[in-house]
Order: sequence, then structure tokens, then C-alpha cells
Amino acid sequence: MLEMTPNLNNEEPLYLQLYNYIKAEIQNGKIRAQSKLPSQRSLAKHLQISRNTVDAAYQQLLAEGYVISKERDGLYVVDLEKGYFQGGPHHFEPQLATQQKQERPAIKYDFNYGDINLKDFPFKIWRKLSMQSLDEEQAQLLLYGDPQGELELRNYMASYLYESRGVQCSAEQIVIGAGLQFLLGIVCNLIGRNELFAMEDPGYYRVRYLFKDNGIKVKPIPLDEHGIHIDPLRNNNIKAVYVTPSHQFPLGTVMPISRRLALLEWAKEEDAYIIEDDYDGEFRYAGKPIPALQGLDSSDCVIYMGTFSKSLIPAIKLSYMILPRKLMDLFHQNNYYVQTVSRLHQHTLQLFIESGHWERHLNKTRNSYKRRYEALLKSIQQTFGENGKIYGASSGLHILLEPNNKMTEEELIDTAKMAGVKVYPTSIFYANPLVVQPAKVLLGFANLAEDEIDTGIRLLNNAWFNSSTMT
Ligand SMILES: Cc1ncc(COP(=O)(O)O)c(C=O)c1O
Repeated sequence: MLEMTPNLNNEEPLYLQLYNYIKAEIQNGKIRAQSKLPSQRSLAKHLQISRNTVDAAYQQLLAEGYVISKERDGLYVVDLEKGYFQGGPHHFEPQLATQQKQERPAIKYDFNYGDINLKDFPFKIWRKLSMQSLDEEQAQLLLYGDPQGELELRNYMASYLYESRGVQCSAEQIVIGAGLQFLLGIVCNLIGRNELFAMEDPGYYRVRYLFKDNGIKVKPIPLDEHGIHIDPLRNNNIKAVYVTPSHQFPLGTVMPISRRLALLEWAKEEDAYIIEDDYDGEFRYAGKPIPALQGLDSSDCVIYMGTFSKSLIPAIKLSYMILPRKLMDLFHQNNYYVQTVSRLHQHTLQLFIESGHWERHLNKTRNSYKRRYEALLKSIQQTFGENGKIYGASSGLHILLEPNNKMTEEELIDTAKMAGVKVYPTSIFYANPLVVQPAKVLLGFANLAEDEIDTGIRLLNNAWFNSSTMT
């Protein structure tokens, strides 16, 4: 009989110890290929353990293919790739990732444009509604849901979007999904990856990368003070253009009605699509919100993209698109994706809207963002005076700031960091970053209180101009 001297103890199930022992002996070549394992009875007797234990260990070795069974004979060790297990069995030690040490001074004022105002988030209500969603009576919410998103929620969204953004659609046209990029992947499928796309330049870099990763050729189209130029779109076989008409990202301009109509006319004439990203259209601080372009569309050519990332919270990744009716059949024939947003979150949001909390939350955040926006403008005007040019028109959750000090974008960001303030680059939004001169930086203001905004701006001014305005 093969020599088997496992060191059995009481810490692990015996069969597991025996299985691990024999497996290691096979891997390190001590039990040779083609050799026959002892019968269950003899091994059990030799090791003074039960036959069941030996059987369980042998069954596991059989299942993993270390041994094969020859009928009415016994178990034989298989021939394994020579040398593969030399140096002993492979050991994997899971390691905890540690955060990289930051050598720069800690950031005290982060003008992050992806943030929202966390102080105004109604934690208690959201917690209560989340618990309500997680109820045994609604156990079906733990299963896969409608690939397009929960119908009740889509119905609420259709009414909300009509009332607040002038969007005209039915719930059947709404597709919910985990983020703009995921949904744009579906748009690429629908329009076709061989088609030529266009996008604003500067424009949202995550969208540029998404198109690139989908193998799509994208023509960057320059902007003027009214938004995207129409002429370069003409006669170029462009099938779709990505735009942010309500609040151009990142420059912050609002596309006036004349340019909107010209864009719609172009799409109609060239049988093309307009992808309208209305990411923060809810927030306008002077006059009424600008209605979405989609509401003006009479030729069924606008694909409207919206999100709760800005107006509620980004963490639930609840975004959506409204497809033109003429794309719906194609969507249904080709949609093999399951819904990517948790049904529980969808249901919680539905309850939040249904119970009137959503409207209250929007009004509250609109007011607090307005106060922060005004505090930011006032602080820049007072501190920078003529030395700081602001881009962005009374909307959204960010502005661009162009200090008149000849620093490069990198210098602006680095000197700000040394002063404990984080500001963000704008060059990444350009198809060709070299064109960005004079340098501007992006400042989000959603998650900073008014006094923090003011101190942050004073620190920036000091860092960039080394002036004596600090109090
Ligand atoms: C231009 C733009 N569009 C859309 C979004 C929202 O993306 P998502 O819906 O993936 O959160 C953002 C978020 O920062 C954005 O900046």
C-alpha cells in the first residue's frame, strides 16, 4: 500500500484533511501518476478513521480530477502537467488594500463637481422608505425586475419630466439604467457602431471615452456663446450628436431657442439623432428652468438622457433615457441586458416621489444651491475682482474660473492643493487639450457651505496671486 501518513487533528473535518493531504502529495509528485490509491477499507483501517471519511475525501479528489476510477478495480492518480506544481501548492494570501499615502497637505476645501449637498439629504425619510421597500409583503422586489425599469416608477417619472422639464414621453419610452455611460452603450447599439457621431468640444470626457471604447468615430464640434455650431454638423454623414443644451458641460452656457431649433432642423434634414444630456437641468437660479430640447422635437429624433445623480444622490446610480418612438422596436428586439439598478432603490424612489418628498427635496436643494452659487459668485467678485473671469450661467452645480495670472492649469491645481484647496482641470474636456489657454479650472460648489466657499476662494486667491487679501 502507498505510504500515507497524514497528520490528522481535530481542527478541520477529517475528510478535508485527508483530501488536502492526498492532493498535496499528488501535486508534489510523492504519489506518482498511474499509482493506485489504497482501498477505502484498508486506508480507513490503517488511519483508524471511518470508511465514510475516506469515501468523502476520495469523492472530492475524483470530482476535481486528481484521480480516475477504473471499474471494479479502484482509483488511479492521473498524469498532471509536469512541473506545474513544483515549488509546492499555490498559496494565495489575500491582502488588504491600503490607501496610498498622501504627501501633499490635506485638502480642506474640495470644490468637487461630482458632489451633491449631503446636509440636505433626507436620511431619515429615505431610511424609512428603504425599510418599507424591504418588506416581506413585497418579496418579489428581491427578484429580477423589468429590464426597462419598474413600470410604476417610470409612470411617475413621465409625469414629473413633463411638468418640470417639458419632456413629452410615455413610460414605455423610458429606460432606466445604472448611469449615463451604461445607457449610452445601449444608444451605441441602437444607432450602430459604424456610424459617425459628433459631440461638443469641450464636452464631457467620460462620454468621449465611452464612444471610443465602443469603437465609435467621434467628430468634435466647436462651440460659441450659444452652444454647438451647426455648420460643421452638415453634410458630414453624422448620425448622432451628443449635447448638453440646458447647461453646457463644462462651459455652463445655455443654448438659446434659435440654436435649439437649428439643431432640430439639422437632425430632421439629415435623419440623425440628438443625444440630449440634461444632467442638472433642475437647477437654475435666475428665472424658470429652461425646458428640455426634447419637448420641442416634432420629428422623433431626440434621445433624452437624465439622472438622479445630481438631483438626489449619485450612489443609487439611477439614471434613465427616453428613446424616440421610432427606436422602441429596435430596442425591444435587441435588449439582452437585465436591469442594472436595484429594484429596492427603484421602489424606494417611487415611494419618495409618491409621498411628495421628492418635490419638497428638489425645492429645498434648489434654494440651498442657489445660496451657495450666489455666495461663490460674490466671493470671487470680492476677492478676485478683475483678476477672475467666471464662466457659467446661473445654473447647475459648478462654474469655471479663469484667473488672470498666466499660470498653467497644472500650476493652478498644484498651488491650490498646497493651500489645502482642490480645484479641477478643464483641459480633459477638450478633444485636443493643448488648445486650453488661458487656463481655467472647474469649481463645484454643491457640498460646501457658504462660509467654506468663501474661505476656499480666499485661499485660492492667495495661492494664485500671493496677495494680502487673507483675513
Ligand atoms: C455632463 C454629465 N452628464 C451626466 C452626468 C451623470 O452621470 P450618471 O448618470 O452616470 O451619474 C454627469 C455627472 O457628473 C455629468 O457631469
